[in-house]
Amino acid sequence: MKPKVYVTRHLPKVALAKLVETCDVEIWDEEFPPDYDLLTEKVADKDGLVCLLTDKIDADLMDAGPNLKVISQVAVGYDNIDVPAATARQIPVGNTPGVLTDATADFAFALLMAAARRVVEGVDYVRADKWQTWGLTLLLGQDIAGATLGIVGMGRIGQAMAKRAAGFDMRLLYTSRQRKPEAEAKLGAAYVDFDTLLQESDFISLHVNLTDKTRGLFGAEAFGKMKETAVLINTARGPVVDSDALYDALKEGQIGYAALDVTDPEPLPVDHKLLTLPNIIIVPHIASATITSRTKMAMMAVENVIAGVKGEPLPFPVNSI
Ligand code: DGY
Repeated sequence: MKPKVYVTRHLPKVALAKLVETCDVEIWDEEFPPDYDLLTEKVADKDGLVCLLTDKIDADLMDAGPNLKVISQVAVGYDNIDVPAATARQIPVGNTPGVLTDATADFAFALLMAAARRVVEGVDYVRADKWQTWGLTLLLGQDIAGATLGIVGMGRIGQAMAKRAAGFDMRLLYTSRQRKPEAEAKLGAAYVDFDTLLQESDFISLHVNLTDKTRGLFGAEAFGKMKETAVLINTARGPVVDSDALYDALKEGQIGYAALDVTDPEPLPVDHKLLTLPNIIIVPHIASATITSRTKMAMMAVENVIAGVKGEPLPFPVNSI
């Protein structure tokens, strides 16, 4: 009998085809995630679970699946999964690092440029039939070359962002749990403390995991230390930024602009106050959304779950069991 695997959302064909070769697969093939109670029922007889960042995977859910041998997340971030609880139950957790690094950094840089040069405002201006003549001072933005980019979190994606910024002649500052001598030597990035980064950066791009330490890292205090023209780019996780404090900072001109791929709450309701501001760009968590990246992510998740149900070490593990 094939091991039973539950998949919480549609996967690219090639990944699904690989999974069904070895596993008896049940898929939640809807646009919205299965709710927690349904997921709890579904894991009851499953050996493996392939999940997304929209699924809450906690200790109770794990206990509802007595045969669960592996939890395989189709994302690099896994703050939706209680990893210590999985480890305590000897359940390996897998993720999909590396294959979305370039796509995510490309998108973070696209947001930086779109905010600096007010691209979305320009599009709205034309669509609203306001474009009547060429204007010397129309929609003036900020220079990128020569500006300072502060990177918070110099992991894989932070370094890829630094590489892009170096190509645009930006000055680079970073803070990170660990110093990255290679990035310092190769890209000329300077390691600074958090306050210095806040005070000196024209653009700040977030590339940290969501943890107890990073939740709300960008709140009223941080915004108070930033330049009035500063642009905040978030492609990491929404709750790293305090949405109320961001609203106040943008509204009161404490900072200049924000470009968010991730929000808190997520999805952001259409009547949320952040969407009333002119100096913000918000897109629906699509930084890794290229065909190649998402297909590779799904393939890695499938490799993880197949290894897990066979009792083999995961090729891309989060915890060590
Ligand atoms: C991740 O992988 O953590 C991204 O947020 C979605 O690709």
